[in-house]
Amino acid sequence: MPSFNLISSVLLFFYIFDLAADANPSFLYKFCYDKDTTFTTNSTYGTNLNLLLSSLTSNANRIDGFYNTTVEQQPPDRIYGLFLCRGDVTPDVCRDCVAAAARNATSLCPMEKNSVIWYDKCMLRYSNESIFSTMETWPGGTVWDNDTFTEEEDFVDIVASLVKDVASEAADAPMGAKKFATKEANLSGSQTLYSLAQCTPDISDVACNLCLESAITEFSDCCRQKEKATRASSLLPSCNVQYGLTPFYNKTAGEVSRSKPSPLPPRDSGKGKISSQTIIYIIVPTVGFLVLLSTFCYCILRRKARMKPYLLKDQKDKSKARTMNSLQYDMSTIEAATDNFSDANMIGVGGFGSVYKGTLANGQEIAVKRLSRSSKQGAEEFKNEVALVAKLQHRNLVRLLGFCVEREERMLIYEFVPNKSLDCFLFDTEKQKQLDWPTRLKIKRNRSWTSISSYRFKAEDCTS
Ligand SMILES: *[C@@H]1O[C@H](CO)[C@@H](O)[C@H](O)[C@H]1NC(C)=O
Ligand SMILES: *[C@@H]1O[C@H](CO)[C@@H](O)[C@H](O)[C@H]1NC(C)=O
Ligand SMILES: *[C@@H]1O[C@H](CO)[C@@H](O)[C@H](O)[C@H]1NC(C)=O
Ligand SMILES: *[C@@H]1O[C@H](CO)[C@@H](O)[C@H](O)[C@H]1NC(C)=O
Ligand SMILES: *[C@@H]1O[C@H](CO)[C@@H](O)[C@H](O)[C@H]1NC(C)=O
Ligand SMILES: *[C@@H]1O[C@H](CO)[C@@H](O)[C@H](O)[C@H]1NC(C)=O
Ligand SMILES: *[C@@H]1O[C@H](CO)[C@@H](O)[C@H](O)[C@H]1NC(C)=O
Repeated sequence: MPSFNLISSVLLFFYIFDLAADANPSFLYKFCYDKDTTFTTNSTYGTNLNLLLSSLTSNANRIDGFYNTTVEQQPPDRIYGLFLCRGDVTPDVCRDCVAAAARNATSLCPMEKNSVIWYDKCMLRYSNESIFSTMETWPGGTVWDNDTFTEEEDFVDIVASLVKDVASEAADAPMGAKKFATKEANLSGSQTLYSLAQCTPDISDVACNLCLESAITEFSDCCRQKEKATRASSLLPSCNVQYGLTPFYNKTAGEVSRSKPSPLPPRDSGKGKISSQTIIYIIVPTVGFLVLLSTFCYCILRRKARMKPYLLKDQKDKSKARTMNSLQYDMSTIEAATDNFSDANMIGVGGFGSVYKGTLANGQEIAVKRLSRSSKQGAEEFKNEVALVAKLQHRNLVRLLGFCVEREERMLIYEFVPNKSLDCFLFDTEKQKQLDWPTRLKIKRNRSWTSISSYRFKAEDCTS
């Protein structure tokens, strides 16, 4: 199993077990990033950070448990911040948790301008760059308990199926409700397995789905290896998924929020503006219509043009095929670019396969990740996922240019990023052993290509 090596890159924390009844927020995990971008307490950024933290604290008893705010200043000193409270907690508990996180933020992350701090009941995040309405799966981590559950043969499969269900329920939450769900499953011997999934409400359903999927993938690395941990949380900036053998959330509140979604109060920024949901309702159908129209014209014009075999199979969904077409690279193009995958062009090997540097005919430099054949994902699923990820690209991530699927091969084509960032691709286990924990965590882990979203890296932060 290639992913076996990857276990070493997971930072292990242990739960101090506290149940939903315990009102004290307990710290889970933090991530302070961008060592190059530090500030001092007396700097403008430091002052602004204190303003931001107190603004977050004073808005923390909101019924929707989410708030974003900005300290408006000229860019180097502008700060964006937000918090998300666990979907089942009351406004009072939310306020206490955010207050604790804010109080301790500057001791948890004394210097870095960017941080994400997770407590059991809330998450607090700030950055000098805009973090609003953007799905982000980095930085993150998995926290799990040492205790293992051995009474059930297929515990791991039950967990997998439960978290999958709870994730899709959270992502499909009705408009205006929290993107939050809880779900239980019965184990043999009257034991119950509890699970929870939540996204920040500022991202779309599709983005929420992708984020949760990415969070679940983190489990399969940690907890399969960790042999049936009784409690685990996968924590990402835009979402989290958790499970446990004890009711670690308020089950009643979860049920209430599901059956009777309480509409979110309007964002305070929204005075007279159109909400992003309205925009989605207007823009998505409009863009969809335009895409269909242009595809139709395109197809009429290019009727005689030779199409790829898989396009012919998929006549019903031409707009999708059109997107795929622009993302798909021919094997011959990739072979030419990498000089037939020559050893000289190989720049790294990892559990996922190998990475080659290449140059396209137009001079563009690319990095080709040739995935190992460890996954059973079908070609069609693979293509759909690439299309989705390519659409959701964030400017800070290494750009995914496309893919190549031919015969048994599956490849991802990225724009080439020089030197340091390449460590993220290389992901060499020997080298990892020499890295300290914080550095290691900066490297977004690779795994089999079941989840392409996990292949994206924040280029600027991957330094060795
Ligand atoms: C920050 O400012 C205070 C007074 O305003 C001063 O006492 C302290 O030494 C300063 N700290 C640093 C690190 O400059
Ligand atoms: C909150 O985020 C939205 C974008 O999602 C932004 O338009 C709004 O200005 C933000 N609110 C504040 C107070 O910064
Ligand atoms: C955030 O800080 C880093 C380092 O100081 C800087 O390179 C980057 O441009 C800043 N971003 C913004 C939007 O100011
Ligand atoms: C906050 O930090 C202090 C030490 O700096 C620690 O004693 C306290 O337990 C922390 N509180 C929380 C809620 O993490
Ligand atoms: C979990 O296990 C590790 C080593 O396997 C040990 O060092 C640690 O103390 C354990 N933690 C708890 C809370 O039992
Ligand atoms: C679990 O068992 C209880 C009682 O045996 C039952 O009421 C409940 O519906 C079961 N839940 C699921 C998800 O099967
Ligand atoms: C759980 O949630 C319900 C409904 O929101 C609430 O009435 C109850 O007090 C909560 N229980 C705890 C222990 O917080």
